[in-house]
Amino acid sequence: MDGNGTVRRNAAAAARPWWKDAVVYQVYPRSFQDADGDGIGDLKGLARRIPYLADLGVDALWVCPVYDSPNDDNGYDVRDYRAILPEFGTMADMDDVLGICRTHGIRVFMDLVANHTSDEHAWFLESRASKDSPKRDWYIWRKGRDGGPPDGLTSHFGGSAWEYDERTGESYFHLFSRRQPDLNWENPEVRAAIRDVMRFWLDRGVSGFRMDAITYLKKDWANAPADGPAAAMCLNKPGLLDFLREMKREALAPYGAATVAEAPGVPAERAMEFIDPDDGVFDLLFTFDHVDLDIAGVPRGQRRPWDLRTFKRGFTDWEKAAGERGWLALYLENHDQVRSVSKFGDDGRYRTESATMLAAWYLLMRGTPFVYQGQELGMANAPFRTIAEYRDVDALNLHREALAAGRSEAEVLRYLAVRGRDHSRTPMQWSGAPNAGFTDGTPWIAANPDCLTVNAEREAADPGSVLSFYKRLIRLRRTHPAFVHGTFEEILADSQALGGYLRTLGPARFAVVCNFTAASQPLPDLPALRGMRRVLGNARSGAPDALGPYETRVLGTAPTTD
Ligand code: BGC
Repeated sequence: MDGNGTVRRNAAAAARPWWKDAVVYQVYPRSFQDADGDGIGDLKGLARRIPYLADLGVDALWVCPVYDSPNDDNGYDVRDYRAILPEFGTMADMDDVLGICRTHGIRVFMDLVANHTSDEHAWFLESRASKDSPKRDWYIWRKGRDGGPPDGLTSHFGGSAWEYDERTGESYFHLFSRRQPDLNWENPEVRAAIRDVMRFWLDRGVSGFRMDAITYLKKDWANAPADGPAAAMCLNKPGLLDFLREMKREALAPYGAATVAEAPGVPAERAMEFIDPDDGVFDLLFTFDHVDLDIAGVPRGQRRPWDLRTFKRGFTDWEKAAGERGWLALYLENHDQVRSVSKFGDDGRYRTESATMLAAWYLLMRGTPFVYQGQELGMANAPFRTIAEYRDVDALNLHREALAAGRSEAEVLRYLAVRGRDHSRTPMQWSGAPNAGFTDGTPWIAANPDCLTVNAEREAADPGSVLSFYKRLIRLRRTHPAFVHGTFEEILADSQALGGYLRTLGPARFAVVCNFTAASQPLPDLPALRGMRRVLGNARSGAPDALGPYETRVLGTAPTTD
């Protein structure tokens, strides 16, 4: 191959990086598969299930934190970035997972928690030891005022954003729980230390990172309000991009590492600052408009009604903003959100229909789809009735605070029943065996009793199951480049019942149409759909000019594959 050929090949690889064609699966290891009977999922359990993931057709995993941690926030409080929490296994188990993934052609994104550490991390222990500690400035310390905290800022997980430390008489800042002190990103040593952590994992063979809470790194103290949510002075503030550019240049780019970043606080119109292929800082963004539409702009612990148009815009505004150069991470669920079939579909009578419709709605859009464990089975929210069944620090804090503020137990439980993060953290439903086949012991959080009917074993044998539909969709996306590289154009934007879009690449044209309601809906005679034939759908028959309850249809100019 001559020099020009090599240059051409490299340019082509840069224009078409692996993650554009990929479907990514998110694993929450604590709830995925327990191999040693202690009731907690682990790396040996994950290793055992990799063939299942390969069969589903995924190309990469995002593995939630498995680092050593006291688990105040289920691993998002890291005690040692270079060690594995014994409950999950050992570094050798992690290397096994990476090796088995490699043999299946599956890449791995590690979860990088860079905004904060655990209060048990050696850096923090050193920082808190004295005001003269060389690491004092690695965290954010302030003197209190009038015997109270330095200001009235509140944490994401409730209460003051400051924790008083008797040893030195100062308080440290924590945006999340009091056991998650924020790192001081102004300190170059901190930034270098985090870059070393990245290199450590890239050297072990991970392909990149899911960047946790990354838009909070820069604190704008000069403009901080006197009270209210601390996020107001640290969410996507000027200077953030400088930190991220340095991170990309010094640690990520030399490895060709892929990145997917949580992007709360980034409005669609600023998306390209983050994901422009040349000047941006990340490859993919997780956006929040479509999942937080019921809580955005309302006080903690409260919700507001939402409508389908807002939900759809949560996707399509971003598609427009990303245009032809940007690329998005597409998702419906993760470990912080409730189950999508319960929130956006119908987890009762129309569970299969609505879970498959939702799958088609997002999986064939322009971007890289992420599937959260159990979503491919149509897993639903847990039927928890008492606070004792919840485990999440955020839920428990909220419960305590709300009762103290005079709200009733019933009201808090009603909120948690539709918003608690534990709904997505119940054990993966492998079978109808006790504890859903997740563990031989007592699970750390109860399995959903619906595992008797909603489980991987049963669904694998049923061609009409949610799982089988996911496999077909993933195959379809792989078969037709238009679903990956084609243009995106929304249709039915004003409908409060239907949603849809077109994907076009050269002569290949496809349309996805979805009915988000339990009633039959006439399908408007859109010129764009004329002449298209059914390629795939979640209903076997049906009138050509109407969509049944939660029906989805993929239409196209390509031959029928269904
Ligand atoms: C993670 C949460 C976590 C928080 C603090 C989030 O973005 O996804 O699970 O509680 O960051 O690390």
